[in-house]
Amino acid sequence: MSDTVKYVLDESRLPTHWYNLAADLPSLPPPPLHPGTHRPIGPGDLAPLFPLALIGQEVSTEREIEIPEPVRAIYRQWRPTPLFRARRLEQALQTPARIYYKYEGVSPAGSHKPNTAVAQAFFNKQEGVTRLVTETGAGQWGSALAFAGALFGVQVDVYMVRVSYNQKPYRRALMETYGARCVASPSTETASGRAVLEERAEHPGSLGIAISEAVEVAAQRDDTKYALGSVLNHVLLHQSVIGQEAIAQLDLADDYPDIVIGCTGGGSNFAGIAFPFIGAALRSGRSLRVIAVEPAACPSLTRGAYAYDFGDTGHLTPLVKMHTLGSTFVPPGFHAGGLRYHGMAPMVSHLKTLGLIDARAYHQIPCFEAGVLFARTEGILPAPEANHAVRAAIDEAVRCREESTSRAILFNLCGHGHFDMQAYIDYLAGALTDQSYEEGDLALALAGLPGI
Ligand SMILES: Cc1ncc(COP(=O)(O)O)c(C=O)c1O
Repeated sequence: MSDTVKYVLDESRLPTHWYNLAADLPSLPPPPLHPGTHRPIGPGDLAPLFPLALIGQEVSTEREIEIPEPVRAIYRQWRPTPLFRARRLEQALQTPARIYYKYEGVSPAGSHKPNTAVAQAFFNKQEGVTRLVTETGAGQWGSALAFAGALFGVQVDVYMVRVSYNQKPYRRALMETYGARCVASPSTETASGRAVLEERAEHPGSLGIAISEAVEVAAQRDDTKYALGSVLNHVLLHQSVIGQEAIAQLDLADDYPDIVIGCTGGGSNFAGIAFPFIGAALRSGRSLRVIAVEPAACPSLTRGAYAYDFGDTGHLTPLVKMHTLGSTFVPPGFHAGGLRYHGMAPMVSHLKTLGLIDARAYHQIPCFEAGVLFARTEGILPAPEANHAVRAAIDEAVRCREESTSRAILFNLCGHGHFDMQAYIDYLAGALTDQSYEEGDLALALAGLPGI
């Protein structure tokens, strides 16, 4: 039996194309709607916010979209990323399961986010954009776009959810080191931010609010566009390099997953690892279990409504059909800041309604418990978001032990937690709490859904 721990691909094996799951689905998700007319939006509606190349990718049903060479050249800095067999974790769990993880924390910003940040900065630069505006929760996406902006000479302004801005000064410093401007959201710089602050001066912020601020700024200037780090089809598309590489690496391992797992905030790292496998399963008829894991404190897939909703709190975005907790939902300031989004990617939501994926929610304490076990066996300290996937992988591996079955479990370790040490300090000190919602707590924001 081989005892290989790490499956690495040569740079020459970097994917040449992004993979688009839309080409293999039995049906497409319902289209985004104009918030005023409630009719499907066209490219012209998105043009103030995004470059035409990205709008084209957003609506494409082509199976493969070529990755431009300048983007591949930058990807080579850290891609292909390694695939590990978690042998010491398996031993600690005494499980017959084969656990594999794809490690995206080797990117310069420390997560999967640069896979799309670099592509978005490239296409914006190509169309003459000089400034990109965005939101960030945990700071992973903001640092990824700041890094990409630095490489392409594009100014980056980041609205960072205030609770994370305060919890994570080093993420902010990283963005500023790359040359970006970072503002706590809600801010007084935008009408959307000021409206929120008038209602509640000490508002902790949310991704929905920070998106409103960024969209508002981008819509006002011709030289400025908006960049989103998750949710949209083109973002999910760019992340497909993760799963494509994993397929080739598992081939080296002479194995294939029975279960694929990813944590979900807006759905992009989950899509990155899972979509190429789901596509392969749809084409071949092979069975596959795919699990999306979300925080119990922001449970859009497991407890949200599947409905048309705004992507932001200020209602400046198109309406998209997704699993949502309501655009005014403000999750508590728990530590997986990157998972605090009220909605889920329309493509991921669609897969859930088609029965092609399962979803489950975990509280943060069991996730940190899993992350600490992972750190103590595999050595890598996961981002709090990634701990949700680690928890699910461990639970599945324990189930294998109980059932005396050896399954191959693959999960995406989407980022390291080196900037998240306060969360680990709080966990180790026993200072974290878990909060459960009653249905009534969730009903309030859902009552405000646009009636479509
Ligand atoms: C490390 C990490 N994982 C996951 C997420 C959640 O986003 P997504 O669901 O798009 O992967 C974030 C978001 O910031 C993140 O920083």
